[in-house]
Formats: sequence, C-alpha cells, structure tokens
Amino acid sequence: MKLLVTGGSGFIGSNFIKHWFSAHPDDSIINLDKMTYAANPRNLTEFEGKSNYQFVKGDILDEKIVDELVSQVDAIVHFAAESHVDRSIDDPSLFVRTNVLGTYNLLMAAKKYNKRFHHISTDEVFGSIEMGSDDQFNESTPYDPSSPYSASKASSDHLVRSFYKTFGLPVTISNCSNNYGPYQHPEKMIPRSITNLLTDQKIKVYGQGLNFRDWLHVEDHCRAIELILLNGKIGQTYCIGGLKKGTSNMELVKLMLKLMGKDESCLEYVADRPAHDNYAVNWDKINRELGWEPKYTFETGLQQTIDWYTTNTSWWQETKAEAEEFYKKLNSLKK
Ligand code: NAD
Ligand code: DAU
Repeated sequence: MKLLVTGGSGFIGSNFIKHWFSAHPDDSIINLDKMTYAANPRNLTEFEGKSNYQFVKGDILDEKIVDELVSQVDAIVHFAAESHVDRSIDDPSLFVRTNVLGTYNLLMAAKKYNKRFHHISTDEVFGSIEMGSDDQFNESTPYDPSSPYSASKASSDHLVRSFYKTFGLPVTISNCSNNYGPYQHPEKMIPRSITNLLTDQKIKVYGQGLNFRDWLHVEDHCRAIELILLNGKIGQTYCIGGLKKGTSNMELVKLMLKLMGKDESCLEYVADRPAHDNYAVNWDKINRELGWEPKYTFETGLQQTIDWYTTNTSWWQETKAEAEEFYKKLNSLKK
C-alpha cells in the first residue's frame, strides 16, 4: 500500500507513521505537513533518506499539491488539523480554514481519483457528558460541539460523511478520546504537567480539576486506525477510547505526582477553560467488529510517558518555552 498521511509530523501522525512502518515495512508513505508550531521535524528523522518515505512540506489547503499527491497513493489517512482547544478559544480562524476547508480540499481530490479516505476525528464532536453521570459517547450520539475546535472537527466529519453518501467515496471516520504518549506537544495537559514538574514549576489545574477525560495511549490509537484502514466497513464511524469512563483531572494529577515523587504543593489552581467539557467513550463497536482493545493500562502508559519526557528533554525544551508564552498571552486576555 502507498499512503498519504497528512499531519504526519505532529503527535499522533508521527506515532502512526512509526507504527505503520514497523508493521508494514514494505509499504510507502508520503507525509504532507505544513510544519506549524505543533510539528516537530525531529519526530521522523529515522526515516529520512529511505526510498519508501517522502516528506512534503505543504498545506492541505494547497489544491495543486494535494491533487498531485492524492493521485499517487492508494489511501489517505487524514490527521492534519489545528488541534488545541485553548488556541481555538484565542483565535478560531485557522481552525475553520485548516480543519474544515483543508478537509474539503482533500475530499475533492480523493473524489477526483476515487481514493480510500480515513478521517481522524475526536470525541469532542459529541459535546459533554454531565458531571456525575456514567454516560458514554458512542457512534449514535448526536453531535453537540462546544469549542471552535470541536465545531470545526464536527463540520469536517459531516463533510466526510456527505462525500460517502452523495458520491460513494470510500470513507471511514474514527472519533477518539484524549491521547497521550511520546512526541505530544508540551501545550497539552499531560506533557505540560510532566515538563512543569521536571522544571520545578507547578501543574496548572483548570478550575477545581473536576472535569474528566477518557485517556488512551497513542500506540493503542494507532493500532485502531490500522485495523480500520485494513478491515473497517466503508461508510462507517468507529468510536475509540480508553477506560470507557472519565478520569478527573484531579485523579490524573495525583497519579502523576505519585509516579514522579511529588506532592500536592506542586499544584496551582488557575482560571477554568470556557465551555469546559467532560468525555467518556464506549468502544464496543470496534471491539466487536475489528477485535480492537487497548493494551496499555493508564498507570503503565503514564509511567512510560513520564520516562520518555524525562529522557528526551532536548525534544521539548524549545517548544515548551513557546507554549508557556502562549499561555501567558491567553491568561493576560482573561484578566
Ligand atoms: P498535532 O497538533 O500534534 O499535529 C497536527 C499536525 O498537523 C502538525 O504536524 C501540523 O503541522 C499539521 N498541520 C496543521 N495544519 C496543517 C495544514 N493546513 N496542512 C498540513 N499540515 C497541517 O495534533 P494531534 O494531537 O497529533 O492530532 C492529530 C489529529 O487527531 C487531529 O485531527 C486531531 O483533531 C485528532 N485527534 C487528536 C486527539 C488527541 O488527543 N491529541 C484525540 C482525538 C483526535
Ligand atoms: O478528546 C480528544 C481531544 O483531546 C482532542 O480532540 C484534542 O485535539 C486534544 O488536544 C485533547 O483536547 P483536550 O482539550 O481534552 O486536551 P488538553 O490536554 O488541552 O486538556 C485536557 C484536560 O486538562 C482538560 O480538562 C483541560 C485540562 N487542563 C489542560 C491544560 C493544558 C488543565 O487542567 N491544565 C492545563 O494546563
């Protein structure tokens, strides 16, 4: 197979390329990435110069590049997006352009050449689970996005589904819960908190830390995407998640403090995020139809992630400084 991976130099995209090459070493991958602040060129240095890997620096909004690359491959795995909720609150415009119009542009090229299209989406499109409830999102949950980020992802999901219904484009969609693991930008909760502790700063807890997420190790997500690409039913959506229940941010930071030998004096409670959601995902469908289930427990996955950030300080030092500049600006706007 020859794949076009969009956003392959970001967190999940780069983990996916590593996973795919280790499982399918004879396949070929073209990685189309704009190299925004979220990408890290170091993520994929091991593949530089290999005949079956090609990196193209470019924008999914660029019709010419997209047309040329889509024509060359068997399937498109679409990760490229603006992915951070807090940045979408600061400035939604790029989220609409990349996530909605960029996806549309890829879909038009996929339609022209009738190519298999897998769209990576998020559980955030479903909105929020009520605090204190045991509900879980599933493939039939109505869309009810809260942030400009999740609204842009919801729009892209609708476009993808419409290209299947209207034009018969061979698509699949996956809606996954919060990922964590190596190569995640230090603007996100888990790497931000680990790197804060490693640099003698406090973990910033939004609100009272009561909001919850359904954490999944990125390698488990990559295995799920692989199964959908190989055996998923065309036109279908698959929900992917971890514990099928929420872990509150307080539970998360307490586990992190324990694993890193710190105490609660390392916590700082800061202003809450507007429209702050809660998530938990039921992944029975992908388990039943494709035999997928997560391999990592949260504790082993978190320990592996802490070890990775502890060992790879040069990977995150520069981007962390930039991320903290962004938070400083965001907080000054709140005041
Ligand atoms: P990320 O921000 O780490 O990486 C995004 C990548 O896309 C970067 O390499 C960036 O340079 C690239 N990109 C951005 N705009 C582009 C454009 N216009 N053209 C080409 N490339 C562009 O994001 P991530 O966390 O790896 O998320 C990847 C995908 O998975 C996104 O679609 C996101 O919505 C989805 N998702 C993420 C999570 C999560 O927990 N991180 C969970 C579920 C779904
Ligand atoms: O659910 C899937 C989504 O998970 C993906 O679609 C997004 O691309 C991805 O960024 C992630 O979104 P979240 O908003 O859930 O992730 P984030 O790491 O920003 O925040 C996780 C939780 O931690 C959330 O409840 C807010 C809280 N938080 C976050 C940061 C950065 C804090 O309490 N302190 C922080 O410093």
